[in-house]
Amino acid sequence: MNDVGEHTVRGHTVRGHTVRGHNVKEHIAAQLAAVRSRSLAYTDAEDDLLVRQHSALMSPLVWDLAHVGNYEELWVLRETGGITPLRPEIDDLYDAFKHPRRDRPSLPILGPAEARRYISGVRGRVLDVLDAVDLNDPDPLRRDGFVFGLVIQHEHQHDETMLATLQLSGQPGLVTEGELPSGRTTGAEEVFVPGGPFLMGTDLLPWAYDNERPAHRVDLPGYWIDRFPVGNGAYAAFIEDGGYDDPRWWSARGWQWRQESRAFAPLFWTREGGTWWRTRFGRMEPVPMDEPVQHVCWYEADAYARWAGKRLPSEAEWEKACGWDPEADRARKYPWGDDDPGPGLANLGHRAARPAPLGAFPSGAGAYGAEQMIGDVWEWTSSWFLPYPGFRSFPYPEYSEVFFGREYRVLRGGSWAADPAAVRTTFRNWDYPIRRQIFSGFRCARSASAEEA
Ligand code: AVJ
Ligand code: FE
Repeated sequence: MNDVGEHTVRGHTVRGHTVRGHNVKEHIAAQLAAVRSRSLAYTDAEDDLLVRQHSALMSPLVWDLAHVGNYEELWVLRETGGITPLRPEIDDLYDAFKHPRRDRPSLPILGPAEARRYISGVRGRVLDVLDAVDLNDPDPLRRDGFVFGLVIQHEHQHDETMLATLQLSGQPGLVTEGELPSGRTTGAEEVFVPGGPFLMGTDLLPWAYDNERPAHRVDLPGYWIDRFPVGNGAYAAFIEDGGYDDPRWWSARGWQWRQESRAFAPLFWTREGGTWWRTRFGRMEPVPMDEPVQHVCWYEADAYARWAGKRLPSEAEWEKACGWDPEADRARKYPWGDDDPGPGLANLGHRAARPAPLGAFPSGAGAYGAEQMIGDVWEWTSSWFLPYPGFRSFPYPEYSEVFFGREYRVLRGGSWAADPAAVRTTFRNWDYPIRRQIFSGFRCARSASAEEA
């Protein structure tokens, strides 16, 4: 929706976004409609499937549905519009901090029909608030429609969570498939990122989260980073080399996880007749060896990297390789530039229900040549989820701040299930290092030698 202006290491940063031609309110309304049709599609199922808890790790789908409506009510209707609560008695049920996911099915939550009625009632009033709001108001919730960006991204994130629930449910036929470009033959290629400063995070993107701010200078020594995410073929070689049985490759905690979980392969993989199979949305299929590996936890990614003689990239290394443009001395919103992700650039927004094969998006490469950094799979980094220097919580500490610390690892880049509205070079996701039901993969990096750097 916006052009990104000056964003430099040497120069000062200016608030540089300008709205291009089109009507911003219409654009926001279209994004609200798009994300809602996505949520309704994922919950277009029998009531039983929506109220059931498919995994103790996840909420019933109907909880996610009403939760996004309740979030919209809180932030757009009450905080921004000053509208009296529609259903104050349900707030507690949809407060993610009050009830852990495993307890949510036993709560008196709204049933599917009631949840749909509730969220559509909220949405009608949200469009009235949008109609009336002044997008140039200095109030940070109103300015540039931040609060609408907040709820649009929030709903997309829950849609991705719903897809993870649907995958765990093992029910076939619920998730649509689609075409993806073909890949190309790839080797274990790496790209070199020379040492030097870049700007991490952003002050310019109006819908960026508090945890992406402020932009700050980070000076990195030179390093190598894989051109592609680690593929299933390479990952299978790690397994077949006994990787899961060799404590040399695992961190102490990772090895403990490996023993307790008895994991032997990515989640949803099985071995039959000398072939790797996977279940994907309720169907068994041979594991496509040319796709990025997904459904691995941080410990598995870390162990693979050690086996490969490498390591995971830090978050800063990941972001520089993704978005820094050394010629222009500025950060790009995406690896290829500031243009929205087109079908030839990245696999996002549930075009297909899977990652694209390696090498499918040569035009989506970043300035240093790394490909598929945006879309396909979330990529684990070596970094804990920590605030940037000068962080200020906005609009509420429970989005990011309460999760900072040495408990969550950062994932970057978005998966095939993430929507373009909620993915960019600076976007930070985080999860526990044991998490595997998310659409997570990784790529490796290594420090440059003294001669190379
Ligand atoms: C950023 C994906 C870790 O799902 O817990 C949803 C996003 N925050 N509702 C999550 C979120 C509040 C969050 N992640
Ligand atoms: Fe939420």
